[in-house]
Amino acid sequence: MIKLSKRLQAIYDLANGNVIADIGCDHGYIPLKLDQKKHKKVYACDVAQGPLSRAQALFEKENAKIDTILMDGISALPEDVDQVIIAGMGGKLIESILEKGKDKLVNVDSLILSPHRNAESLRSYLIKNHFRIEKERLVFEEDHAYWIMYCRKGSQTLSDWQVWYGAHVKEDDDYRKYLKIEKYKWEDLQNKVPASRFEEGKARLKWLDSKISQS
Ligand SMILES: C[S@@+](CC[C@H](N)C(=O)[O-])C[C@H]1O[C@@H](n2cnc3c(N)ncnc32)[C@H](O)[C@@H]1O
Repeated sequence: MIKLSKRLQAIYDLANGNVIADIGCDHGYIPLKLDQKKHKKVYACDVAQGPLSRAQALFEKENAKIDTILMDGISALPEDVDQVIIAGMGGKLIESILEKGKDKLVNVDSLILSPHRNAESLRSYLIKNHFRIEKERLVFEEDHAYWIMYCRKGSQTLSDWQVWYGAHVKEDDDYRKYLKIEKYKWEDLQNKVPASRFEEGKARLKWLDSKISQS
């Protein structure tokens, strides 16, 4: 059985839909494990034939019967899907996939999203588009920070801090490490930017100082 990386395992742990589509499945590890361990109906989807063929080869080797779909984003999402995973892409690409496929989300209850950049923009997009972020986690993999968001349909208001540093986040060692890195980043910027253009930076540093001192 495939051993998932820490990031993929964290995504897999959150998956609880009845019928799950993994968009941008690439290697196919998440669909395979969902099939083998959680016995879920799962669709492995990708925009490119290369990754999809690799995933298909893995499924065949493992004797797993998993449907694969070659599609851009969620443009041909089957109607029985109630949970969508989109991981390992930038937040802006995830936004554009959700935006272009809005009409395909009617039967979808929950999203598991893992952007490797532009998480702030994605949070704002989700709130504006009637998804609430129920929980988040941050995972470092090869020194890169990945957010993992579990979202359901509904309304939510987020403070600036939640848009910047996550909503209902698991406050573990990786998250604390991330906050410290952010603090150094904004302190460094403070030395380079005129005070008049550093209002948001000041607010961030104030919040980061207080959060780090509490943890
Ligand atoms: C870096 S891999 C991430 C793989 C896996 N989801 C993970 O988190 O490890 C990104 C995958 O997304 C696919 N992809 C990129 N844009 C896409 C789109 N618009 N629709 C579906 N898949 C897409 C790529 O072909 C690639 O296989």
